[in-house]
Amino acid sequence: MNLLLENKINAALMDIFKKLDLNEQFAFVKVSDRPDLSDFQCNAALALAKIAHKNPREIGTMIADELKKCDFCESISVDGPGFINIKLKNEVIAQNADKMAEDERLGCGLVENPHKVVLDYGGPNVAKTMHVGHLRSGVIGESVSRIERFVGNEVISDVHLGDWGTPMGMILAEIVRKDGNLNKVETYDIVQITEFYKQANIRCKEDESARETARLITAKLQDGDELYYKAWQHLRGESVKAIKDNYARLDVNFDLWWGESNAHETCGKIVKIARDKGISEVDNGAEIIRLEEGNKPKPPVILIKSDGGYTYHTTDIATIKMRVDDLATEEIVYFTDSRQTLHFEQVFEAAQKLEIAPNVKLQHIVFGTVNGADGKKPFKTRDGGVMDLETLIEMSKDKVRQSLPKAGEVEGYGEAEIEKLTSQIAVAAIKFQDLKNTINSGYVFELDDFAKFEGKTGPYIQYAIARINSVLRKAETAGLKCGKIILEAPEERALALKLAQVHNVVMRAHSDKEPSIIAEYTYGLAQIFSTFYNACPMMGASTPQLAASRLKLAKLTRDVLKLMLYLLGIEAPEVMLKAENKGE
Ligand code: ARG
Repeated sequence: MNLLLENKINAALMDIFKKLDLNEQFAFVKVSDRPDLSDFQCNAALALAKIAHKNPREIGTMIADELKKCDFCESISVDGPGFINIKLKNEVIAQNADKMAEDERLGCGLVENPHKVVLDYGGPNVAKTMHVGHLRSGVIGESVSRIERFVGNEVISDVHLGDWGTPMGMILAEIVRKDGNLNKVETYDIVQITEFYKQANIRCKEDESARETARLITAKLQDGDELYYKAWQHLRGESVKAIKDNYARLDVNFDLWWGESNAHETCGKIVKIARDKGISEVDNGAEIIRLEEGNKPKPPVILIKSDGGYTYHTTDIATIKMRVDDLATEEIVYFTDSRQTLHFEQVFEAAQKLEIAPNVKLQHIVFGTVNGADGKKPFKTRDGGVMDLETLIEMSKDKVRQSLPKAGEVEGYGEAEIEKLTSQIAVAAIKFQDLKNTINSGYVFELDDFAKFEGKTGPYIQYAIARINSVLRKAETAGLKCGKIILEAPEERALALKLAQVHNVVMRAHSDKEPSIIAEYTYGLAQIFSTFYNACPMMGASTPQLAASRLKLAKLTRDVLKLMLYLLGIEAPEVMLKAENKGE
């Protein structure tokens, strides 16, 4: 069940439309664009008038006259060309807020037909330093995963490690070059492995024979050569440890740590299916599937390269088959930047031709790039290097430290506690800065303001929550309890109305796979709460009933804000140690 205020009006409109013989498809309201005039508006009269060639104001008035008979409206007017503006009675909004406060899902409903969905995000590569693109994919994917679960879908998240392509052969070749053999491989840690990859990359860029060696070793590895395979296992293991560590610091989680390599066996099956169906052909020594039909012909998918190795295409197609056969998924969603748009178009089309995922929805969500101050070039470190995740977190922590007391300055907050809090706020700053932007737009990494406690930032929302926690603690000490919600002041009313939108916000974020809808709402809610907080004293309210009501509104706001942060993948510390005790 959801606790949307609109439900009440929509149900009444449904009856009215039936009675007046109007098309029921238009019997709904939306949150008003003019909060000064109304809480909700119904624009049905305009659409209905167009169809019936009638005057919209006339139809609007007819509907409004019927609505006026309902007991939940404070005022109804027909404005402009025929908009019906509806203001609800305060008691109706108050009652709804009371119910939300009692509901463990805070008034949020579930999807009607839950299904299973695989979310493919993160996508880091063995031995390569994670960059801001892997950060975006992880941060967005984690949030979408939480939203999907919350609305009732079954989610399986998979990191889909890049662990099987030519870079693997490149590192192995580089190690053999330096050591003469692979005997020392198992002594190398992630720093050394990454360094080998860097060297190999430089060499392969300049030297065709080095590229050739790397290709041959990759093919041998994929063929199951024992020595290469054992060495590769170590490289992969060390990388996974480092990647897990990095993502854990960001609270980005995965159910599966599958990679391209896990799809190897299935790659063989894909080739067989393609041959059996007669949709593959040999072209210049490679085995390909042509994708030349339709109005937008694409380059072919290469299943097997001329050297015998499988490609990024093949592993992705095989992975689809595994997710469908072994995980019984009904939907797969991928999160990468726009450089892989063509790749996924090809993979999806090949999967369709191969008929390996009938009735499975395949979706590629493309995110924009994180840019530096000029708005054009990718975000880099101050000295021009690639911004890796660890540097980013450290940088954010340094900013946050400027706003926090030092260890020992606040009772109960020693080194460890301050460090934990610093991390929680720093990660919130990074994630919120990312998630407040619509997925497909890139954004400029705001170096100066992203970790501030004011403005549209993660720490601002955390601070709003901590402020409410502080009031609630004091109220408890004073023996004050939450009580029935009464809405008198306009700031109380505005807050309760905003709270009532939460179900819609979550559902829109779910259907659009767009966490920024939640981020935007969260910021708006925190601002409206701040206005309420300044105008409506809680503990100092004029009557005990009013104090109890305001405390309940504040607690509900706190719970909604916390839920929203949770859905964004952001923690909400109990205190922020930053003057949240001022005021009350
Ligand atoms: N490893 C890839 C990269 O770094 C991203 C993987 C995306 N997922 C997938 N199933 N292809 O670009």
